[in-house]
Amino acid sequence: MEWRSAGTPPREPHGYWALAMPALRALFHAACSGPGSRPPRQIRLSETCNRPAMKSQPADPQRLAARMADIAPFHVMELLQRARTLQASGRSIITLCVGEPDFPTPEPMLDAAMAFLRGGDVHYTPALGLPQLREAIAGYYASRFGLDIPASRIVVTAGASAAMLLVLGVLINPGDRWLLPDPGYPCNRHFVRLLDGVPAALEVDEASDFQATAARVAAAWDEATRGLIVATPSNPTGTVLDAPALGELCRTVAGLGGHLVVDEIYQGLNYGCAAHTALALDAGAFVINSFSKYFGMTGWRLGWLVAPPAYVRAIEKLAQNLYICAPTPAQHAALAAFRPNTLQLLEQRRAEFAARRDFLRPALQSLGFGLPGDPRGAFYLYADVSALCDDSYAFAHDLLEHCGVAVTPGLDFGANSCRRFVRLAYSRDTEQLEQAVQRMAAFIAHSR
Ligand SMILES: Cc1ncc(COP(=O)(O)O)c(C=O)c1O
Repeated sequence: MEWRSAGTPPREPHGYWALAMPALRALFHAACSGPGSRPPRQIRLSETCNRPAMKSQPADPQRLAARMADIAPFHVMELLQRARTLQASGRSIITLCVGEPDFPTPEPMLDAAMAFLRGGDVHYTPALGLPQLREAIAGYYASRFGLDIPASRIVVTAGASAAMLLVLGVLINPGDRWLLPDPGYPCNRHFVRLLDGVPAALEVDEASDFQATAARVAAAWDEATRGLIVATPSNPTGTVLDAPALGELCRTVAGLGGHLVVDEIYQGLNYGCAAHTALALDAGAFVINSFSKYFGMTGWRLGWLVAPPAYVRAIEKLAQNLYICAPTPAQHAALAAFRPNTLQLLEQRRAEFAARRDFLRPALQSLGFGLPGDPRGAFYLYADVSALCDDSYAFAHDLLEHCGVAVTPGLDFGANSCRRFVRLAYSRDTEQLEQAVQRMAAFIAHSR
């Protein structure tokens, strides 16, 4: 069925339908008014109910929405595709371009999901998430950070991706300008665009440890600006906003009358610095998190957000409409995420990530890669290749073709100096990282 707006005239039938319609109408009329047929019984609806007006757009499948011109693909996907082709032809490829841990989902979570699935009772949950999981997340904030976050503020989502979409969906009006660090995680600027907001690049660099600063935010803010999105630890740089810097950002954005969204998806993957949360600093911030990275559950599609109480109902409505609820088996798996034995395993993995970083960072430096910034989190190094070549995209291409190492070109993370940088994910074991370094060393020596 096609919904039409009030001003759009109904389309006349044409072709085959133009010939068949009179006969069909006659048949329908006879069926409804013939002997034995009864008028359909109508249900009685409340008189006081405010009935929302229905609007619709005529569909034109031939034309893409204009916004699609602004939605860029992941350039690394082309490299990944090529990596798969090379692998299928027998080449050995070391993939350092994938933003997910190489560890499997922890056993206790698998067991919890299996037990739930065997029960066979796999249904929708409330849009805000399983009540016991929302309580468990609240308990995690209490035990890990000493914070009293009521479960009623916590919304379980289909990954941090859905969390970001929900938050921006309830905040953005057409034309609203939002600041996002460049380089930064690319999907967020596309979400802003999708919602007819205007994403504005906030350039970050070595001088700011690749993070937003209060001074840069204040300088970039204008009367159309409504918000700022930051991630700590960051993708692609792994740098961290420490508590004083984050606190200053919170105060600056609040002072400007804007919204602050803090993406804490890599929370817990911190090396040499304690994990913290914006929730301890700013009751008005929207905080996004996920089971994807620290908890090792990328494919389960599960995350959460914490919103100021006044926004939870709007977020609930949007979640109901967008995807009904987060995957139920994943929610049951996540109930085991905060148990002591799971957390112990996750901490061992964190130590393994730290050891990989401590190997890879100096190894890359010895090959001529620049490593500006202080990558104290996530599992990424954002490496400057300008001492080696003048185009990081071509460099990533050649690394793959000639030595079988796949890295992500800076182009995927924005426009700011992107041709100088590549991102390497240390989400491979140390043996593979060592091999990758050897191959890159041989390639660089050979290409000089
Ligand atoms: C900074 C950042 N935010 C959000 C996401 C989305 O994560 P997910 O939807 O898997 O939770 C990612 C994924 O790599 C990310 O790096």
